[in-house]
Amino acid sequence: LDNGLARTPPMGWMSWERFRCETNCTRHPDACISERLIKETADVIASDGFRDAGYQYVIVDDCWLATTRDQSGHLQPDPARFPSGIRSLASYVQSRGLKFGIYGDIGTNTCAGYPGMQDNFQRDAQTYADWGVDYLKVDGCFADPTQYNVTYPGLGLALNKTGRAMVYSCSWPAYLPDPVQTSYQTPYKELQQHCNLWRNWVDIQSSWQSLSTIVQFWALASQRSKGFTEVAGPGSWNDPDMLIIGNEGITDAQAGLQMGAWAIFAAPLIMGNDVRNLTASQRSILLNKDVIAISQDPLGMQGSLVRCPGGCNSSQIWRRQLSTGIAVAFINLGSSAVGQVCVSPADLRPLDASALMVHNVFTGELTTHQQRDLCTQNIQPTSIILLRISEGTPVQGSIAPLTQAF
Ligand code: DGJ
Repeated sequence: LDNGLARTPPMGWMSWERFRCETNCTRHPDACISERLIKETADVIASDGFRDAGYQYVIVDDCWLATTRDQSGHLQPDPARFPSGIRSLASYVQSRGLKFGIYGDIGTNTCAGYPGMQDNFQRDAQTYADWGVDYLKVDGCFADPTQYNVTYPGLGLALNKTGRAMVYSCSWPAYLPDPVQTSYQTPYKELQQHCNLWRNWVDIQSSWQSLSTIVQFWALASQRSKGFTEVAGPGSWNDPDMLIIGNEGITDAQAGLQMGAWAIFAAPLIMGNDVRNLTASQRSILLNKDVIAISQDPLGMQGSLVRCPGGCNSSQIWRRQLSTGIAVAFINLGSSAVGQVCVSPADLRPLDASALMVHNVFTGELTTHQQRDLCTQNIQPTSIILLRISEGTPVQGSIAPLTQAF
């Protein structure tokens, strides 16, 4: 969507993956969907390095609404959990130098059963604009998927009419047939025209099983789904769902794999964790500035699968063109180490392989490389090796920085 927003994949935090639809604040005061949770999250994002690393949008997912509209038909938040109202919450988040996002549904109800926006597009768009919303996630429950090509653009138009700039996140293709398992052709051109980002597929869960299934889906979509890679660019992004880094269910190596893969995919980096409770290694994965620089590369080209040596459910090689150089990822989804995987000089085009600098963005190791195949040895089970490769040789005696400090 060409509305001047999301020129690079949006970064931020969203409540769903970790906090779900917890509405009992008596029993779970720290973890219920409430203004307190959102404010505490915004405080940590602003003060603990996340904002400065690029994480910008703080987004309330489902279950913030009251069960009914107000007497004049406007959406309203649950009064016990959001006593100060959404406008005040949005300004709190914005006063921390962040942006505020919220959730709605294109149908009669949200997935959790709260009021949806059907038949109220203009009124609700205006409510969001009046509240100062910067980002709107629009789910697709309780609606007719055959009408999405009408309803999603219709709501987009209503948002546009308010005159307030809001990132428009659609769930449209997530409810349509799977372009990998069926011959269905996802309407990428329409998505690109009407949405800033769109959820392509199933919800991520906090487990290795879920993460690896999504990475496999991405590889197969890259191979089989016409237009999938090309559709991405400034203002329009495929969305494989939230980062689960920081939650139980995955190891640090798997967390690194998600961070690196999402960077190569040009995917939104929306954390679905509890930022108040992260380990040092989880923080450093989320804040790795060289990985974030790949994700946020201004060219905005989505990476594509080079090949799967031995099946996409074990090892995958990816490549992403950057504004300077390229990024290459070796991903091992399997449960045993992979001995050796190589890319050839042809795989590295348009780089001239006569003198290359190779920066391993997770280990920090910087090496030079010439002509031959570029190989990586012994990729541990469920891990990634992410390289940023550019032309030239490092200045003698210095480690030339390959990426801009973010
Ligand atoms: C389904 C979406 O895909 C999730 O991300 C989340 O928004 C839930 N609905 C909320 O009910």
